[in-house]
Amino acid sequence: MNREEVSQVRGVVLQKSTCEYWNKIWDFQAKPDDVLISSYPKAGTTWLQEIVDMIQNDGDIEKTRRAPTDIRMPFLERINPPYIIYVARNIKDNIVSFFHFQRMNKGLPDPGSWEEYFETFLEGKGLWGSWYDHVKGWWEAKDIYPILYLFYEDIKKHPRREIEKVMEFLGKNLDEKVLDKIVYYTSFNVMKNNPMSNYTLSSLMNQSVSPFMRKGVIGDWKNYFTVAQNERCNEDYREKMDDTTLSFSMEY
Ligand code: A3P
Repeated sequence: MNREEVSQVRGVVLQKSTCEYWNKIWDFQAKPDDVLISSYPKAGTTWLQEIVDMIQNDGDIEKTRRAPTDIRMPFLERINPPYIIYVARNIKDNIVSFFHFQRMNKGLPDPGSWEEYFETFLEGKGLWGSWYDHVKGWWEAKDIYPILYLFYEDIKKHPRREIEKVMEFLGKNLDEKVLDKIVYYTSFNVMKNNPMSNYTLSSLMNQSVSPFMRKGVIGDWKNYFTVAQNERCNEDYREKMDDTTLSFSMEY
């Protein structure tokens, strides 16, 4: 399979096929109980999809394991459903995760070398555009629309607390036992071994290059960034995040 060509919509680099159906996405009409999960790629979309599906099915894995993630919860981008959940991930881990995803996903453009990828990402010229515009745009949007804005790092450190937030946002009231079950079934190792959430059924992904459920940790960037790249990223981050109240936990 050939890697797909890219094109642009409003200056954002996207796969050509995504550009072609963009107008349809824009015209999408949500139903009153639709839930939209949004994120910059590789910030924890699949994780949130599993959490939301588990909550909506009262923790019943017979139901959540009915089909692979992308069939159960189709991809779409449009602000108008009543329930919108956004998940953001710190820029450093996000770059690393996206780099590996482009390596292993045969449908996406080849990422090139790590050095090239790193620069293209910071300049916002990579696939799906600028990380900064995405996380900041949704941060502003949450003051206008009913958006639950979550962070990958918080879910990783406090899964139960964050899952409860999602539950409350969706107006669900599940008992403690169901909540425990959801925490367990949405943990990294369980999702990694679940064919309905690990994308092993997708022919687009070459999991021997890099597994879709790769590491699922905070701070893996330290294994990839040189000292110079870290300084460059910190400086770029300071400059481009200067105009927002959004902040990421910077312990990494
Ligand atoms: P890594 O590549 O750092 O491992 P997305 O679903 O938006 O494509 O994001 C994928 C990233 O989220 C991958 O990160 C993947 O391992 C991680 N992820 C998926 N499920 C997770 C879970 N239950 N716990 C922690 N990380 C998870």
